Amino acid sequence: MLRIDEIRTVAIVGAGVMGSGIAQTFAQAGYTVRLHARREDSLRAARERIAKNQEAMVRAGLLSENAARTALDGIRTTTSLAEAVEGCHFVSESVPEVLTQKQDVFAALDRLAPRTAILSTDTSGLPISAIASVTERPERVVGFHWMNPPHLMPPVEVVRGERTADAVVDLTCDLARRIGRIPIRVEKDVPGFLWNRLQLALIREALHVVEQGIASPETVDQAITSGLGFRWAAVGPFRLMDLGGLATFQSVASYLYRELSRDEEPQHTLASKVAAGETGIGTGRGFYAYPPGGAEAAIAARDARLFELLKLSQGPTCR
Ligand SMILES: NC(=O)c1ccc[n+]([C@@H]2O[C@H](COP(=O)([O-])OP(=O)(O)OC[C@H]3O[C@@H](n4cnc5c(N)ncnc54)[C@H](O)[C@@H]3O)[C@@H](O)[C@H]2O)c1
Repeated sequence: MLRIDEIRTVAIVGAGVMGSGIAQTFAQAGYTVRLHARREDSLRAARERIAKNQEAMVRAGLLSENAARTALDGIRTTTSLAEAVEGCHFVSESVPEVLTQKQDVFAALDRLAPRTAILSTDTSGLPISAIASVTERPERVVGFHWMNPPHLMPPVEVVRGERTADAVVDLTCDLARRIGRIPIRVEKDVPGFLWNRLQLALIREALHVVEQGIASPETVDQAITSGLGFRWAAVGPFRLMDLGGLATFQSVASYLYRELSRDEEPQHTLASKVAAGETGIGTGRGFYAYPPGGAEAAIAARDARLFELLKLSQGPTCR
């Protein structure tokens, strides 16, 4: 098994939103990065995306111009998968969330990457074990699930597949720390891993509350960003229960659980918007309206807040 100091060259497969941010993060942490896409125009777009991400980080004081340029210049892009993975130690895959597509990529990676290389997937919820099953090295396949935007969000889930070796989980957690990320170790290959189970439980209840006329989407968003999000940056649910007293939470749970959504399908409010083509910033309308320039403004507002939070926590990306 590789040692952490032996991991120097990382291949990123898929150069979309996630792949480019992951390539950026590894390059800024000093790793040799090869970024693979099937088409030159995807690679050009990825470089532009990374440069734009970096400009905003430089403006926010989270990255020096020099470090940004060195990292960007150091990313080697290629349309050849064989060239991308030649001699690499770690692969991070970020192709679309379709099991057969991921399996095709992993079968190719298994043929082309060095036998010792660890193959990781950024799947949001497909079974790691199903992706690993097409390889002859399932013990070296691991979930490495980033949060969007990957160049800013501190946690990365490290997910153990049924056959992932302990040493691979440990090494991937160490690697996450080396690139300034906080590894969230998920011991079972379950749907949604950890982050999305928690997030979707909240989203289900948020939709329920809006459908019941209890509060508007704007009010729910405000309650989360100013309230729950603020508190949960300081304490998680288990520390929260300790601080508040377990008996209180038992009492609240005893009458409140039965009131909460137990919907097993995506709710009407969500499904009807999707059916109407109102799918969010890409179409100009979701729960909010995005006139021309509105989508960019919403992303910039989110990133500005994330920059503030990163600075407060002495940003893991700050170099
Ligand atoms: N976007 C998010 O919020 C988010 C968050 C966490 C994880 N993820 C996961 O990350 C993965 C990628 O998501 P994304 O948002 O970056 O998607 P994306 O559509 O922006 O990028 C995917 C890229 O992969 C390319 N691609 C397709 N087949 C390929 C192949 N065989 N070889 C190389 N490149 C190929 C596509 O052309 C595209 O550029 C998905 O599994 C997704 O579930 C996404």
